[in-house]
Amino acid sequence: MRSLEQPIRPFPVLDDTRPDDMSLPAFMVSTTRGFLPRMDPIVALPPEFEALESILQRMPVKTLVGEPGLLAVGKLGETVTTELPDLTDAVDKYRANLPLMNALYRDYSFLASAYLLEPCHERFVRGEGYGLARDVLPANIARPIAKCADLCGFKPFMEYAGSYALFNYRLVDPSAGLASSNLRLIRAFEHGLDPTSSEAGFVLVHIEMVKHSGPLVAGAVACIEACASSLTPSALPESPPPRQALNAALSTVLSSLQKINATMETMWSRSRPTEYTSFRTFIFGITSQSMFPNGVLYEGVPNLSPNNRASFRGESGANDSMIPLVDNLLSIPMPTTPLTEILQDFRSYRPGEHRRFLEWVKSAGVSAGLKDWALALAHDPPSFTPVDGTEKNDEEDEQAKTETRALWIKVLDQVRDFRWRHWCFAREYILKRTSHPTATGGSPIVTWLPNQLAAVMDEMVRVYEAVGGGLGQEVEGIMDLVGRQRDMLRKEVRKFCEERGVTGDGV
Ligand code: HEM
Repeated sequence: MRSLEQPIRPFPVLDDTRPDDMSLPAFMVSTTRGFLPRMDPIVALPPEFEALESILQRMPVKTLVGEPGLLAVGKLGETVTTELPDLTDAVDKYRANLPLMNALYRDYSFLASAYLLEPCHERFVRGEGYGLARDVLPANIARPIAKCADLCGFKPFMEYAGSYALFNYRLVDPSAGLASSNLRLIRAFEHGLDPTSSEAGFVLVHIEMVKHSGPLVAGAVACIEACASSLTPSALPESPPPRQALNAALSTVLSSLQKINATMETMWSRSRPTEYTSFRTFIFGITSQSMFPNGVLYEGVPNLSPNNRASFRGESGANDSMIPLVDNLLSIPMPTTPLTEILQDFRSYRPGEHRRFLEWVKSAGVSAGLKDWALALAHDPPSFTPVDGTEKNDEEDEQAKTETRALWIKVLDQVRDFRWRHWCFAREYILKRTSHPTATGGSPIVTWLPNQLAAVMDEMVRVYEAVGGGLGQEVEGIMDLVGRQRDMLRKEVRKFCEERGVTGDGV
């Protein structure tokens, strides 16, 4: 019989994101903005940071006014040396304003990556390999970035949410909100200040997907609440029966994932596959990259790592929180492979509140027995303790149970859809264009994405078989597709592994 040993403590998911409250971190979790920051990112820095602002505006390969910037002429390094004071004290002055700390973290991390990778970019445009990057970050960047990263709970190197993607947009017309045509990047490396460029398209599609994550968060929380309420006799009399509430919550999760995936599909037209590798040079991390064989020395930051040589994973969508949220909600098992260890390592590169929320979803779902209850699998006894103490109850209604199972598979299918499209991105934007073996986050480019994609497809087959099928035509169609894609993926990974002489790493 299922029971809750301890009541599940709710997670502080915000409904009102309190955009004017500067004492809270920029990144929390809400039912309205999901995983986006609580407020639109701060664009303008205080006057003390004028020198930083000036360099950042002149930095991109193409500046806002369309002229060649410092990275186009190989002058960023010397400009940082001659023009940028160490502004650590100014950072400290504003330390109580956490969203501003986040903006400074974003800006210093853009400068740090551009500074370190400038020599690689120069070689790349000459058609050579990346060679070695600079491996010393001077104190005028290292000290302030270490300070603001510490205050915001980030690592002192570019991350996906806090810097490159989710805290890097501004609104042309503040009253028009997050409409696609109203978004521009604040910072860019290459041509990204032009909204029609591939760099802008790449970043903005991420933001526009995360824009739909509010209902995803709300639906996930509602799934856990429904499950917990099925075990708690004190459920309010007017609340719907738990299984009905679960099905409504899963439907919310499903529709929000459908929107997210539909937005993801726009990547093909908004960011050209042939152009990705050129701005990508600047978003590589340090970990497992040939450009940084000895890590990076952060001057003036003595306690960053034991040997003073720091190594961080780079900007990667792998640090986005939407798909990991669903992985945790549905308890999708990942294989025990070195590749899955990388997936776990990525967790530490998210805003603290995102991390804590994902952990909460995982542990709350497990302690309430969400998956077993939802799927009503054979190893869970057929009779749960009914809320009203009687043996007969609505939860056991066959129709509602079948609906839950079908919804569960459909939600899994959205995760598959995301990861399949993602594998197609990796093939078209990366594998066909470069032989560099690692992705920006330091994962092996051929095998890592298939590790998780195969895991989802395996889980779909397992769940479908465990419930004995019978979930209607739509689900049958989904499962047919899964069978075909599993074969296709195996063949493609084998082909790329053979061509590149890499092992399957357990995929
Ligand atoms: C042209 C488009 C894209 C390319 C080429 C691309 C490339 C990659 C690569 C190579 C990885 C492996 C991890 C690493 O960096 O080491 C990755 C992971 C990931 N990316 Fe992307 N990405 C793209 C778009 C997106 C978008 C729009 C999102 C939306 C949030 C996203 C979310 C993710 C996620 C969640 C993972 C982890 C995948 C998993 O858990 O299986 N990516 N991406």
